[in-house]
Amino acid sequence: MVEGMSLEPAQNEVVFDPAKVRADFPILSRRIGKNPLVYLDNGASSQKPAVVIEAIDRYYREQHANIHRGVHRLSEAATVAYEKAREQVAAFLNAREARECIFTRNATEAINLVAATWGMSRLRKGGEIVLSAMEHHANIVPWQMVADRTGSVIRVVPVTPEGELDMAAFRALLSERTQLVAMAHVSNALGTINPAKEIVAAAHRVGAKVLLDGAQSTAHFPVDVQELDTDFFVFSSHKVCGPTGMGVLYGKADLLSAMPPYQFGGDMIREVDFAGTTFRDIPERFEAGTPHIAGAIGLGVALNYVSALQPEAHRHEQLLLAYATEQLKTVPGLRIVGTAPEKVPVISFLIDGVHPLDIGTLLDSDGIAVRTGHHCTMPLMKALGISGTVRASFAFYNTLEEADLLVASLKRAQAMF
Ligand code: ALA
Repeated sequence: MVEGMSLEPAQNEVVFDPAKVRADFPILSRRIGKNPLVYLDNGASSQKPAVVIEAIDRYYREQHANIHRGVHRLSEAATVAYEKAREQVAAFLNAREARECIFTRNATEAINLVAATWGMSRLRKGGEIVLSAMEHHANIVPWQMVADRTGSVIRVVPVTPEGELDMAAFRALLSERTQLVAMAHVSNALGTINPAKEIVAAAHRVGAKVLLDGAQSTAHFPVDVQELDTDFFVFSSHKVCGPTGMGVLYGKADLLSAMPPYQFGGDMIREVDFAGTTFRDIPERFEAGTPHIAGAIGLGVALNYVSALQPEAHRHEQLLLAYATEQLKTVPGLRIVGTAPEKVPVISFLIDGVHPLDIGTLLDSDGIAVRTGHHCTMPLMKALGISGTVRASFAFYNTLEEADLLVASLKRAQAMF
């Protein structure tokens, strides 16, 4: 459960009805062969409600033109819609100003942007970047590349066997050498919710900046970047019911304004001359070329849709997590990997004597979609002494009945081996 969010419904609170919400998602009523689709791969990508699909469709049918460039009506309307989406993102994150929200292709590109600009200009030889052992590769490799070029050093916070961040080790790693702490808000492989506010406060005490990777948190509970006081926060649209190819970098205005541009081209320049070029302020400074206008519009609609379901959706997800965890324990030989007390509804597991890939294939034959393998977290798998897991990642539109179908299918699979 997330700090500040009670699991007890408030007085007069509407009871969350997953059946009603499911009707908003066209894909959820399709069948996989003779079985209904049981979509438990939301950690990889969430499904899209009709309002998002229709907003994108409407944009291309009725409103499309390039933004920031035309005096004609369509261009002005597209510009207004694009900038409105930025306002919606700012409201979703509770950013102070919309210009603190930069549109990128995804969370990965947002991290690469910070690494290539803030990292390349600020990290110094011997300076330290603190990561955790549970990071997604996207929050490891960009820092390795920049560490190689700047002579900075990567330090890694270990993870306990239960899948929690070792906070004592984290505090011990912090020093005046620490320049950046880059951490997952929520682990994609295990579902662990990291104590982000504590991490940020501890990092700030030694003068370090913090980047939180919110790829796996934004779909599950409200995020408040001011409350967290994080310097940077990144997330991907497609995991929060929005379109693919769209992501967000939030950064404090003073930090972003002082960073050199990332890519160069149209829309990000103030004046170009062969004698020299000047650049625009944020956010345009970091958005070279024609952006994903439809993606921004779809993301704005998705964020409004998801926000309107809180806090009931969060409570439903926690119920799903508790129920599915208990039911999975009834499968012979099943071991849950990642048992932190604070989790989103992501359950990684192994079954004695059965390879995760075989489990995934058998589940698929029953119409159940899960992810198997290392989940782009090879160092975490190595630390836990395993090569991969089966991961069932639930969303607010999943049901207790779907958890039962997963468990029944696993019991059949287990009996076959
Ligand atoms: N990062 C996504 C996942 O964890 C793709 O599945």
